[in-house]
Amino acid sequence: MKFFVDTADVADIADLAATGLLDGVTTNPSLIHKAGRNFLEVVKEICGIVEGPVSAEVVAADFEGMLREADVVRRLAPNVCVKLPLTMEGLKACKRLTSEGTMVNVTLCFSANQALLAAKAGATFISPFVGRHDDVGQDGMDLIEDIRLIYDNYDFTTEILVASVRHPIHILQSARIGADVITAPPAVLRALANHPLTEKGLAQFTADWAKTGQTIA
Ligand code: E4P
Repeated sequence: MKFFVDTADVADIADLAATGLLDGVTTNPSLIHKAGRNFLEVVKEICGIVEGPVSAEVVAADFEGMLREADVVRRLAPNVCVKLPLTMEGLKACKRLTSEGTMVNVTLCFSANQALLAAKAGATFISPFVGRHDDVGQDGMDLIEDIRLIYDNYDFTTEILVASVRHPIHILQSARIGADVITAPPAVLRALANHPLTEKGLAQFTADWAKTGQTIA
C-alpha cells in the first residue's frame, strides 16, 4: 500500500520523505490556505522533494476552466497529478487529461457509483473521503469495501486513494480491504510507528545496556 501525506507544509513533507516511506503528496485548497503560500510555488517545491505523484487541485467548476488551470499546474513538474472534483464537468476533464497522459486524482468521492464513473473516465486515482463519512454517522470504510469489489469485478486500474483519513485505524482497515493508497495528515502517519510497549521495551533495554558499561561505536 502506498503512503501519501495530506499537507502543503513543506517542512513536514521533507521530514517524512527522509524516512523513505513516502510515496506521494495530496493537497487541496484548504491545505494551501493553511500553508499560507503561493499555490503554484508550493506545488513546484513539493514536486522537487517527492518523486511520486503530487496532487494539485483545480478550482474552476467548468470543463474549459478546469483544462486551463490543469494546463498551468501540469507544467510545473512531471509528477504533478491534477486533482478534479467528482462532477460531470470534472469527469469530462478527467477523460481528456488522462487521454493526454496526465495523471488525475478525482476527489470528493462519497459513493461507489461516483467511483465507478471516475474509473470509466480513466482516473488515475479515486479519492473516497472516509473521515467525512464518519462525521455524518456513516462508516466510511464500507465505501472502500464497495469500491474495491466493483473495481476488481471489472479489472479497473484506477487506484483507490483513501482520503480524509483521521486516525491509524483507518489505515489498518484500508490495508485489510486492499486499498491501493492512503493519504493522511503528517501526525497520523507518524502515529503509525507508536506503541506503548515499544516505548516501554526500549526504555528497559536502554537502562540495562547502560548497566553493562559497554559501547558499540
Ligand atoms: C485529500 O485528498 C483530501 O482533500 C483530504 O484527505 C480531505 O481531508 P479532510 O476531510 O480531513 O479535510
